[in-house]
Amino acid sequence: MPSMPASRRSVALKTDMTTDQAFAPEATAAVYRAIAERRDMRHFSGGTVPPEVLLRLLQAAHQGPSVGFMQPWRFLRITDAALRQRLFEVVEHERVLTARALGQREDEFMCLKVHGVLDAAELLVVALAEGREAHVFGRRTLPQMDLASTACAIQNLWLAARAEGLGMGWVSLFDPAEVARLLGMPAGAEPVALLCLGPVAEFYAEPMLQRERWARRAPLSTVLFDNQWGQPVQGLGDVDAQ
Ligand SMILES: Cc1cc2nc3c(=O)[nH]c(=O)nc-3n(C[C@H](O)[C@H](O)[C@H](O)COP(=O)(O)O)c2cc1C
Repeated sequence: MPSMPASRRSVALKTDMTTDQAFAPEATAAVYRAIAERRDMRHFSGGTVPPEVLLRLLQAAHQGPSVGFMQPWRFLRITDAALRQRLFEVVEHERVLTARALGQREDEFMCLKVHGVLDAAELLVVALAEGREAHVFGRRTLPQMDLASTACAIQNLWLAARAEGLGMGWVSLFDPAEVARLLGMPAGAEPVALLCLGPVAEFYAEPMLQRERWARRAPLSTVLFDNQWGQPVQGLGDVDAQ
């Protein structure tokens, strides 16, 4: 098994209640542990997800925040094997097109495992509902907040799945029009994620794309500024310390 990530060790040691509204230290540490050990998973070990667990995960997703409380997400559970096979083909088609679009990195990309659509115990499709234009609160200048809200729901599911010991992979390699057609979505609805969910033999100790040297997590100091874009943050100590 991979060793405990540094971020989890430090949380376990440093957790301290700073307000009387905080969870107990071990509960707080569990939240940070789920965040640190959540991984995008593409290797699954078969098995099943018990219905009561799947329901808990979907309830966690549905508790996500949403702009104007619009709850734009819709979840479709794929239980039809032939339909899953069709979705697999749609993803594989896009995988090849993506590789071509990458140019120089085409071969490198084709060596990566970028989904577990056929291997995961469960396949869920997450879509934006139709009729979103009626929701203006928080979206008049930023209409994409519907997608942001749906991503929050997916992240809830992802973290809860990690806590339940289940892996999840977010797949966005597909033609949305084709997925919408396959799943009988109404005009205006838009699929945004295929979620591969299920038991895994082990969780990657670090992002798989980092392990495969595709990309690395950027140091926090390079994405965190004081007041003005590009101005290094002050007063938080060594922000890149693990
Ligand atoms: C919106 C979104 C779409 C993603 N789509 C894919 C995908 O199509 N295929 C894939 O292999 N990973 C996909 N990922 C997973 C990322 O590659 C992964 O989150 C990143 O490499 C960091 O790894 P980690 O999630 O394990 O920390 C997606 C992640 C997000 C947030």
